Amino acid sequence: MRLYLDNSATSHPKPPGVLAAVVDYFESVHASAGRGSYREAVASARLLERCRAALARLLNCGPDDQVIFALNGTDALNLAIRGVLRPGDHAVTTAMDHNSVLRPLSALAEQMGVRWTAVEVDPDTTRLDPARLAAALRPDTRLVVVNHASNVTGVLQPIADVAAVCRSRGVTLLVDAAQSAGHVPIDFAGGGIDLLAMPGHKGLLGPLGTGVLVIRAGVAERMRTVREGGTGSASEQPAQPDVLPDRFEAGSHNGPGIAGLLAGCEWILERGVAALREHELRLSRRMIERLLEISGLEWYGPREVEQRVGVFSVHTAGLEPQELSALLEARGILTRSGLHCAPLAHRTIGTLPLGGTTRLSVGPFTTLADIDAAADALAELVLESAST
Ligand SMILES: Cc1ncc(COP(=O)(O)O)c(C=O)c1O
Repeated sequence: MRLYLDNSATSHPKPPGVLAAVVDYFESVHASAGRGSYREAVASARLLERCRAALARLLNCGPDDQVIFALNGTDALNLAIRGVLRPGDHAVTTAMDHNSVLRPLSALAEQMGVRWTAVEVDPDTTRLDPARLAAALRPDTRLVVVNHASNVTGVLQPIADVAAVCRSRGVTLLVDAAQSAGHVPIDFAGGGIDLLAMPGHKGLLGPLGTGVLVIRAGVAERMRTVREGGTGSASEQPAQPDVLPDRFEAGSHNGPGIAGLLAGCEWILERGVAALREHELRLSRRMIERLLEISGLEWYGPREVEQRVGVFSVHTAGLEPQELSALLEARGILTRSGLHCAPLAHRTIGTLPLGGTTRLSVGPFTTLADIDAAADALAELVLESAST
């Protein structure tokens, strides 16, 4: 048995259409989008546009909002953070945010004197209080970055309330949807979000090497480019073209990856994100019931299922997180251990000195039987470690 419970890192399995789309790309498209006018290059460009349209439908983007392809979630966050912030600006994020937010902010602090604040969250639920975020805003705050769903505790943050705060204070809001896109309905047009970053290879079910940044109409004009280069357009001018999406997409695209991402998005659109959310809620309810039965096992984040996604971090006193992962793998259950690139989240829940947690994360193909198998294994291992 190989029971994959590391969907927060990258989703597996993908819907069968994803592999078929990647193979079809190599067999019948194979050209670089925007780099020629022959049939295959046009087909490649058309694929990109179909994928943008599918993403726009999935995320409910407005007609003038822009879908930009990036290399992964980290790259999309960098394009946004480095695009918006200027020397001396202040930025606000949260203690639940990922190193793909914290490290660009730290680098900008060193490189151009950006200052930033990470707002603390409730240590029990790990939920952000929007009033606390509002209190951290300063007259020089240009950007707020908030993680939608935590990759450590699974908590869903109150994005609508955060957006209302940012709107009222005229601050740009970037949401990291790495663990929520494809899992939870997202209303970009109605949600008051300015920038939405996500990987294509997690909940959107595309291949590794894909990422997406959605930019609200009018926001790109306030952003600088992070990299410049060939776009196949306006090649006579030395400067990066202003036209979108070219302005933020320098260099050849990941055609096969985007073909697979399109297939992943189409699979999600066919089922509907609401139905996938229902499935994940059923899995999460079962997981919560089972975790509550295991004495000696700590687990973190909200007990209220509606306030979370299917990401569960656990810890037991007798075993290092890596040891628990190794013992689970010996039983065919694949998890991830450590700090999950989110050190402040572990400081918040008290697991930083313990070496982090062992994380189990579900996907659309996970079943209730899989949850039971994982919970049975955890219960046995905790019992064994307590008796040795
Ligand atoms: C919350 C969060 N943000 C950002 C990222 C970065 O995404 P990627 O691994 O695609 O760069 C991850 C991935 O682990 C994540 O969980």
